[in-house]
Amino acid sequence: MPRVVVFDQFGGPDVLHVVEEPAAEPAAGEVRVRIEAFAVNPLDQMMRAGNSPAPVPLPHARLGVEGTGVVDALAPGTTGLAIGDPVILAAVPDASVRGSYAEYTTAPASRVIARPAGLGVTEAAAIWVAFSTAYGALVEKAGLRPGDHVLITAASGAVGRAAIQIANQIGAVPIAVTRHTAKKQELLAAGAAEVIATDHDDIAPAVRHRTGGAGADLVLDLVMGPGQPDLLKAARPGGTLVAAGFLDPRPTPFPAAPLTIFRYMGFEHTLDPVVVNRMAAFLTAGVRLGALRPAIDQVFALDDIAEAHRHLEKGHHAGKIIVTV
Ligand SMILES: NC(=O)c1ccc[n+]([C@@H]2O[C@H](COP(=O)([O-])OP(=O)(O)OC[C@H]3O[C@@H](n4cnc5c(N)ncnc54)[C@H](OP(=O)(O)O)[C@@H]3O)[C@@H](O)[C@H]2O)c1
Repeated sequence: MPRVVVFDQFGGPDVLHVVEEPAAEPAAGEVRVRIEAFAVNPLDQMMRAGNSPAPVPLPHARLGVEGTGVVDALAPGTTGLAIGDPVILAAVPDASVRGSYAEYTTAPASRVIARPAGLGVTEAAAIWVAFSTAYGALVEKAGLRPGDHVLITAASGAVGRAAIQIANQIGAVPIAVTRHTAKKQELLAAGAAEVIATDHDDIAPAVRHRTGGAGADLVLDLVMGPGQPDLLKAARPGGTLVAAGFLDPRPTPFPAAPLTIFRYMGFEHTLDPVVVNRMAAFLTAGVRLGALRPAIDQVFALDDIAEAHRHLEKGHHAGKIIVTV
């Protein structure tokens, strides 16, 4: 019998458990995917703990917004896909009947993209959320252009690393921010043009120095909280800040700066099949050219799902946490 991860109450990693149940049949317009691997995301942790903006109906809630596998069944009339096609789930959270933490899930055919050739299973499981978020925020939302200086917070995380690679693919100049000087070399090797370590450097003067006094054209803020004013000071007047993450739970001061400020949720784009196609084209080209490659931190087995969540919560990972099925 196929296995699926569920939880019946909100709480710590141990609320997650594996049950056996029949795989659902795809409804009209849907496919069923036999999952080979999935990624663990901060959103999953929030959904499990009961802190998520996405609704989570208990009991028997499911998790997982990204993963990879092969098409296993198609609803009658579904076109463009065939049984056996390797795919990536570009899904939105739906804790009631779907979720990639399972051997099988159904998904609307419009939210399944072809797996780019040249990606292994663990990398394919790791690419969608990080890269579609970074691409959506930087390119679709903020209009990143070649030559722009882009300041990237939480740069050693999955979205941050994706943002560094995407900036390089576009021809922009990625300036990475980490809290730790010890991560500088690693981030330079990951493609950052400059790394600012906040345990040693002040962000605004460092950015002004790197940009000839002008300031960053674009800021990707994945942290928010009381550190955001320093990012605003580092941006050029008329620049753009995109707030796409919230790693610091403390309040964010009201932004006072002559900038365009966006809040960004990837689902505003991943619900639009036209943008999903653009994202898929960008990712596939980047993989083919060797410009885009997700960083993998550690791979767990399905039975160790609680351990995978504990690893995420410790916060020492560098890149994606993957579970193979
Ligand atoms: N808008 C969307 O659609 C969307 C989609 C995906 C993710 N997100 C959000 O984006 C954020 C990043 O996600 P991710 O998957 O890249 O996370 P991640 O892989 O867990 O990376 C987090 C990195 O951020 C830094 N960090 C952690 N806590 C921090 C804090 N309190 N202050 C400053 N830096 C901190 C750490 O780097 P250092 O130790 O080097 O500083 C860490 O390596 C999360 O808030 C996530 O929920 C949003």
